Amino acid sequence: MATRHILTKEDPALYKKCRPVTSFDARLHQLLDDMAETLAQSNGVGLAAPQVGVLRRAVLVLETNVAEDEDEILLELINPMILESSGEQKGAEGCLSVPGEYGIVCRPETVKVRAQDRNGQWFEYEGTGLTARCFCHELDHLEGRVFTELCERMLTEEELANGAF
Ligand code: CO
Repeated sequence: MATRHILTKEDPALYKKCRPVTSFDARLHQLLDDMAETLAQSNGVGLAAPQVGVLRRAVLVLETNVAEDEDEILLELINPMILESSGEQKGAEGCLSVPGEYGIVCRPETVKVRAQDRNGQWFEYEGTGLTARCFCHELDHLEGRVFTELCERMLTEEELANGAF
């Protein structure tokens, strides 16, 4: 495993639509392993392949809604799609590609996705709260959309300093 460089918002690759993953091979597994290490080192909760310069439909989302004595689960979603969403949450959102900036984004409270695992097996998964927000945020990356485009407004320096996030 190795960490990969995370592209920041100036990079045009972040604004391109990604192509489906068609080969569930060692190269994909290497990418996912590297993304996992990169995410862990950055203390993030999600990472999309285009953020490390790979324009393919693969994302990682950290499921943090687990019991206190259980480990968080790192979900690998290949060729993901949203099946259903419901409810609404409004809150601050950030992105590893937009370091230090946070903005208010409205997202569904519950999101059910369908995706393939690293071996090509289809599965479904329902996330709520932060996990639902993360599903939407990471899937947006695959369409070339960065959260700052969806923000009602960015948090001010004062709000950040006051720990509003
Ligand atoms: Co992001």
